[in-house]
Amino acid sequence: MAQEVRGVIAPGKNEPVRVETIVVPDPGPHEAVVRVQACGVCHTDLHYKQGGINDEFPFLLGHEAAGVVESVGDGVTDVAPGDFVILNWRAVCGKCRACLRGRPWYCFDTHNARQRMTLTDGTELSPALGIGAFAEKTLVAAGQCTKVDPAVSPAVAGLLGCGVMAGIGAAINTGGVGRGDSVAVIGCGGVGDAAIAGSYLAGAAKVIAVDIDDRKLATARTMGATHTVNSAETDPVEAIRELTGGFGADVVIEAVGRPETYKQAFYARDLAGTVVLVGVPTPEMKLELPLLDVFGRGGALKSSWYGDCLPSRDFPMLVDLHLQGRLPLEKFVSEAIQLDEVEKAFERMHHGDVLRSVVVL
Ligand code: APR
Ligand code: ZN
Ligand code: ZN
Repeated sequence: MAQEVRGVIAPGKNEPVRVETIVVPDPGPHEAVVRVQACGVCHTDLHYKQGGINDEFPFLLGHEAAGVVESVGDGVTDVAPGDFVILNWRAVCGKCRACLRGRPWYCFDTHNARQRMTLTDGTELSPALGIGAFAEKTLVAAGQCTKVDPAVSPAVAGLLGCGVMAGIGAAINTGGVGRGDSVAVIGCGGVGDAAIAGSYLAGAAKVIAVDIDDRKLATARTMGATHTVNSAETDPVEAIRELTGGFGADVVIEAVGRPETYKQAFYARDLAGTVVLVGVPTPEMKLELPLLDVFGRGGALKSSWYGDCLPSRDFPMLVDLHLQGRLPLEKFVSEAIQLDEVEKAFERMHHGDVLRSVVVL
């Protein structure tokens, strides 16, 4: 029996979001219905509302979520009703050329539920990132559910489903940060702060936080930054070099998504170092660099999709490390809100007042 629950939809371009009754079908083959316990408010939800992702309105927003599996369809073996899970938006297929080469974190054919959730009049909803978790329940592909230790708070766990995983993964998966490395992180929002926490966790000897906002730098220190640079006042390339014996950092993580900050990352890196781009640029942005510098400085210029995470490998591990007190994920939760407060949370996020508002159900 399909069920009716409350969910937050974006009805049309730039229209305020609102709570509506949505219809959640029973799970079909390889699908699961999850009772959502918490879902973070992310920039991507705002981009959907603004029409910046695609025009497939109405959207059912929300995608950084954790909850309990309520029911599963045929053929589901990895999760069962009652399991506490984090939702992911890259359910790996196991069959594409990346998966077949043993690199499933790059999966080129990730999937979502086949059935659609609807409004009560039958209008089909487009779930944000194939999740749609600003709702009491949601329908997803079973592969989007990753079981983790239920001792973790749902509000904290859900954040691993998107931005926080992107940042931690940019450091530990893409950047390969290890014991003794020097790391610089440019842009200290939720993603950059997670890259700082990930670098600290991985044993970086020096973690330099760069931002144009002193409030962000203060938070970055609580996440594990050993040094801070306000790049509105100081040349960040010079400052990072000075803090690293004149050489530059082993790994520089760009968590803004702009050509000027990418260039800073490129030149603030030691010879043979690594640049990781986890900030997401817009279509009109262009990068210009002397090709000789690209060659002559060696090393690696990498992009990080979703922190190059493999949910089945990374979510349970990071939850365990958090429960051991080694990863302060709770610091990313600025406030708990209700479903009808998402619009207000967008405003606070836009003003840079919060790291994450989390809808708690
Ligand atoms: N130099 C340094 N820091 C900057 C600059 C700049 N020129 N411009 C902006 N910033 C800082 C902001 O002050 C803010 O602290 O970058 C940070 C961006 O943080 P958020 O807006 O909170 O974004 P976040 O959620 O962290 O995402 C960062 O990663 O996943 C992508 O789409 C996301 O591109 C975005 C990026
Ligand atoms: Zn695949
Ligand atoms: Zn997100």
